[in-house]
Amino acid sequence: MNIMNTRIIGISILCSLLTVAAGSQSGSKTVTDRMNSFVNSLMSKMTLEEKIGQLNLLKPDGSVATGTVVSSDVENKIAKGQVGGLFGVIGQEKIRQAQQLAVTKSRLKIPLLFGSDVIHGYKTTFPIPLALSCSWDIPMIERSARIAATEATADGLNWAFSPMVDIARDPRWGRIAEGAGEDPYLGAQIAKAMVRGYQGNDLSANNTLMACVKHFALYGAAEGGREYNTVDMSLVKMYNDYLPPYKAAVDAGVGSVMASFNTINNVPATGNKWLLTDLLRKQWGFKGFVVSDYTGVKEMTDHGMGDFQTVSALALNAGLDMDMISEGFLTTLEKSLKEGKVSRKQIDDACRRILEAKYQLGLFNDPFLYCNKDRASREVLSAEKRMAARQFAEHSFVLLKDQDNVLPLKKAGTIALIGALANDRSNMLGTWAVSGDFQTAIPVIDGMKNIGGGNVSVLYAKGANISDDTAFAKKINVFGTRIDIDKRSPQEMIDEAVGIANRSDVIVAVVGEASEMSGESSSRSQITIPESQQRLLRELKRTGKPLVLVIMSGRPLILNWENENAAAILLTWFGGHETGNAIADVLFGNYSPSGKLTTSFPRSAGQIPIYYNALNTGRPNGGDEFQKFHSAYLDVENSPLFPFGYGLSYTSFSYGEIKLSNSQLKNNRKITAAVTVTNTGNMDGEEVVQLYIRDMVGSIARPVKELKGFQKVFLRKGESRSIQFDISVNDLKFYNSSLNYVAEPGEFKVFIGTNNRDVREASFIYEGK
Ligand code: BGC
Repeated sequence: MNIMNTRIIGISILCSLLTVAAGSQSGSKTVTDRMNSFVNSLMSKMTLEEKIGQLNLLKPDGSVATGTVVSSDVENKIAKGQVGGLFGVIGQEKIRQAQQLAVTKSRLKIPLLFGSDVIHGYKTTFPIPLALSCSWDIPMIERSARIAATEATADGLNWAFSPMVDIARDPRWGRIAEGAGEDPYLGAQIAKAMVRGYQGNDLSANNTLMACVKHFALYGAAEGGREYNTVDMSLVKMYNDYLPPYKAAVDAGVGSVMASFNTINNVPATGNKWLLTDLLRKQWGFKGFVVSDYTGVKEMTDHGMGDFQTVSALALNAGLDMDMISEGFLTTLEKSLKEGKVSRKQIDDACRRILEAKYQLGLFNDPFLYCNKDRASREVLSAEKRMAARQFAEHSFVLLKDQDNVLPLKKAGTIALIGALANDRSNMLGTWAVSGDFQTAIPVIDGMKNIGGGNVSVLYAKGANISDDTAFAKKINVFGTRIDIDKRSPQEMIDEAVGIANRSDVIVAVVGEASEMSGESSSRSQITIPESQQRLLRELKRTGKPLVLVIMSGRPLILNWENENAAAILLTWFGGHETGNAIADVLFGNYSPSGKLTTSFPRSAGQIPIYYNALNTGRPNGGDEFQKFHSAYLDVENSPLFPFGYGLSYTSFSYGEIKLSNSQLKNNRKITAAVTVTNTGNMDGEEVVQLYIRDMVGSIARPVKELKGFQKVFLRKGESRSIQFDISVNDLKFYNSSLNYVAEPGEFKVFIGTNNRDVREASFIYEGK
């Protein structure tokens, strides 16, 4: 970017007015008063153009592109006060230079926000968010955001476009990889944890940054799982199933919200007043600012909402404060104001919210608060962070099958390690790792050799391309080669792989998707392992050697053949920087898997959308056997192949009967549901004990199960523990047809178990007042 050539001038030139007025930004009761008087004073000096400039978010040429358009003439615009923030600028030095420009060249010297897609770690890349969610380890997830914030702020950033909390019940949608799966309760816990992790207790500290919850709203419910597609949804479904994680982030004090690309009941989120003002601000009390998604304002012309000026006014009027990339606010709001299409107050309100964010971040005190060369060299990709990445990955893997305890592997003998993904760095970081350098990732083969030790001989063969389809590979390889099509023919590769398999004691085949087969703009209609790798697996199976699958993917896949034919399946998603070491740790039994699925794995794409917290219907099928005139398919069972909450361990756990402290629940009281969980296997291990509730009779139809609590517990071999959950009236509440949040008297069932399918059951009566 050209800004780099800008002459560097000392920071002390920041206008004294700002420095004095900003004063101390911590601690006292008058913090809000001080902020208000500071912002009032600043705004009284701003021209209309400068106010509109604050609403403009740009991405300079040459920074990481996540859309098709990048901004031009950024340097000049900053100097003219036409820019509120930048994103996609990576590295504290570049950020310092851009900030220098803002605080020396622009008339009022207002510092810029610097945002980025810090999604699963910053430069040190953690497992993709869907993987992290499978840990069900809320403190760990919070820690992942805390570490990412520490690293990103050391490198100049003060704003993360995360957490992404879109509920997704459709694994065809590639962005399912970026969220926490299908459940609103778990999604809400994770949303809060992420916001806490990023923002800490003090936004103005130099190691915290402002979070941005996205994509508001319902982006994960795109029809047919096709990216950017239409969303049409009842209010009851929205409030009960899709909105809770966004609301949780707002309740946790998230500083900003990103509007989603999709329409909601025919109105684009970016120009949706009901969504951005009535719901977000008036009902939920959100005080921060709302930013559009990438060219979201401009895209409303394609949604058919009018010309550029009209859609820009529509967005502002709806409650959007900042325009990412489109420059619709910058280029049309003045005209719209003259024509009476927007009001001065709306522009002022939006500008004020952005200035408040900058104030809270401490930028008026020190615009270079987040640019510190020493901190950057200490924090970025530090050994400690890599250790954390390894631990997070181990805790995110899900063991789907382990027949006859083929896992853990012995640290002796010969292992045939097969698959393009077994000797690969470029895919290990997963989607949305815009700042991560995959060259520094650990491939599986290195991990297997490191951890296996001297008595293990690891023989490697690629066996198959991730896909043989060159046209498909081209679509995936937009950010560099992820699918590398070998010069050898598929048969030659298979022959080599079968050859080494025959000389080995066990096969470990690392198969699945390339990293860019999920994420933005990566919808798939067939969610299987690509045919080239399936063919390889069939040939490996014929060797008769035990077949262990390590599956990498950014979404649930259909794994019927794999489940029938593999001896063991470890689902690792994309594990980030330490993938290879983490996989080897788990395969060799240094850590017993403890992850549990946060999305259902279908048997067929025809079952989608598939999710556990469904309604019963008037003709429930009651099991998987087809019954005529019941809600079922002729050609596939109703159940998923692997249910929500499912995941095995190297040890086993048994559950006793549920004991309720009372069979009646009265208002303002609680009852306790207790169950004894025993580690009945041969290893120590962790188990996620899950609590579900069913409201048997309601004023609207209620789901067959809803997650209402969980505890991740560590039990030593042979240990038993009583696990207790308190159930209060709050856990029974839902939004009724008038959108009141109520608990209705009647019978409730309680389920506790190792996943949502395999549960113990009890029931109680809620008596109401
Ligand atoms: C994505 C957002 C992201 C933004 C900025 C968009 O394409 O939808 O999630 O934060 O780009 O990179």
